[in-house]
Amino acid sequence: MKFGKLLWMFNSSKVRASKWGKKYKVKTIIIQKEEEAKFLYKLASKYANYNIVELGRKYGGSAVVMGSALRREGGTGRIYSVDLSEDHYEFSKEFIRDMGCLDYVELIKSNSQVYPLDYEINDVAFVLFDATHDYDIMKEFNVWYDRIMPNGYMIIHDYGMEKHEGVTRAVDDFVVQHGLKISDKVGRIAVIRKLK
Ligand SMILES: C[S@@+](CC[C@H](N)C(=O)[O-])C[C@H]1O[C@@H](n2cnc3c(N)ncnc32)[C@H](O)[C@@H]1O
Repeated sequence: MKFGKLLWMFNSSKVRASKWGKKYKVKTIIIQKEEEAKFLYKLASKYANYNIVELGRKYGGSAVVMGSALRREGGTGRIYSVDLSEDHYEFSKEFIRDMGCLDYVELIKSNSQVYPLDYEINDVAFVLFDATHDYDIMKEFNVWYDRIMPNGYMIIHDYGMEKHEGVTRAVDDFVVQHGLKISDKVGRIAVIRKLK
């Protein structure tokens, strides 16, 4: 599916009017802003034959954005989408299925701060960090950094937000510890490229 077909997800009145909005009384089906989602869509399109890890799925909006990119490209990659919440699990699964993306998304019910031992996840092109919103996000960085392929990316949502100062501090500390740098900022997203 083209990115343009997903634009309704960023319009709360359209979300509310949809069966998803009615069923679950949500007005926000995706937490990413449009420019952030567009960036994720482009990155997923580029790496459609590699794997993507998403930490924090909630209703499945960002999984659908990236899954739509993989599907459009006919990619062999998968999105390993980790979330601990019972509340959103069925909703997100149904939403992802109805949007035609379930073949591309593996839903994992697990704590994002530990590696999901039932899975073997290799060739990770990038990880979207959008679960832990305090300094403990460092645990996620430590779990996933070594599993990202050379020249792959860490994509961290909510960097530089006053409300999530622990995320910003953890990113800044991690970058220094590993001799990295923030290569790009897209809305609230910080992009870090992993060196070889
Ligand atoms: C901001 S929402 C994710 C939004 C989604 N990426 C999007 O753009 O639509 C954060 C999600 O992270 C999950 N979460 C928070 N802490 C977690 C943890 N330690 N392990 C797994 N999931 C967690 C919450 O259940 C919630 O669904």
